[in-house]
Amino acid sequence: MHLPAILETQLLWADEPAAQATAEKLAAALLPSPNALIELHGPLGAGKTTFTRLLLRALGVEGRIKSPSYAVMESYELPGSAGGGVASHFDFYRFGDPREWEDAGFREVFAAPGLKLCEWPEKAAGQLPPADLQLFIELMPDDSRRVRAVGAAHLIQGLK
Ligand SMILES: Nc1ncnc2c1ncn2[C@@H]1O[C@H](COP(=O)(O)OP(=O)(O)OP(=O)(O)O)[C@@H](O)[C@H]1O
Ligand SMILES: [Mg+2]
Repeated sequence: MHLPAILETQLLWADEPAAQATAEKLAAALLPSPNALIELHGPLGAGKTTFTRLLLRALGVEGRIKSPSYAVMESYELPGSAGGGVASHFDFYRFGDPREWEDAGFREVFAAPGLKLCEWPEKAAGQLPPADLQLFIELMPDDSRRVRAVGAAHLIQGLK
């Protein structure tokens, strides 16, 4: 019997350290050379930027990691220990005009290897290639986060 290519799992983040533990597992699953499109779904304040920061830190990115809300994209060089490639963090919340996709050079970014982390991917749904991993973050009344992860088997298995 073959394993299905797409798997799904549920996670519970009681707090940020719990999200950090997931980020560290995901970083390990992405090595030796992170090359994936990860979509972060969830309402305002769900923790999409926070998780992105935790993942980039887990991959060894140092220095300021800011929310890309106004610039739409922020790129980082990964250290040699994480393959030395590029990680690009997108926030498509204010993305509207599909021409911007071409003008901003996003087509080239998504065609090239590297790690892509996308907040509000639904706002660029017509442009984005298929994701390797989708995280659906649900904010609970007690401030914990319930997360459904859907994606490539090796990444989902790495999260468990
Ligand atoms: N896993 C977590 N556990 C507890 N609190 C969290 C967690 N993740 C984020 N937070 C808190 O929620 C706040 C909002 O998080 P964040 O900015 O990451 O949300 P977001 O999903 O990126 O929102 P937006 O859609 O506005 O970009 C943070 O300031 C942080 O204090
Ligand atoms: Mg954000």
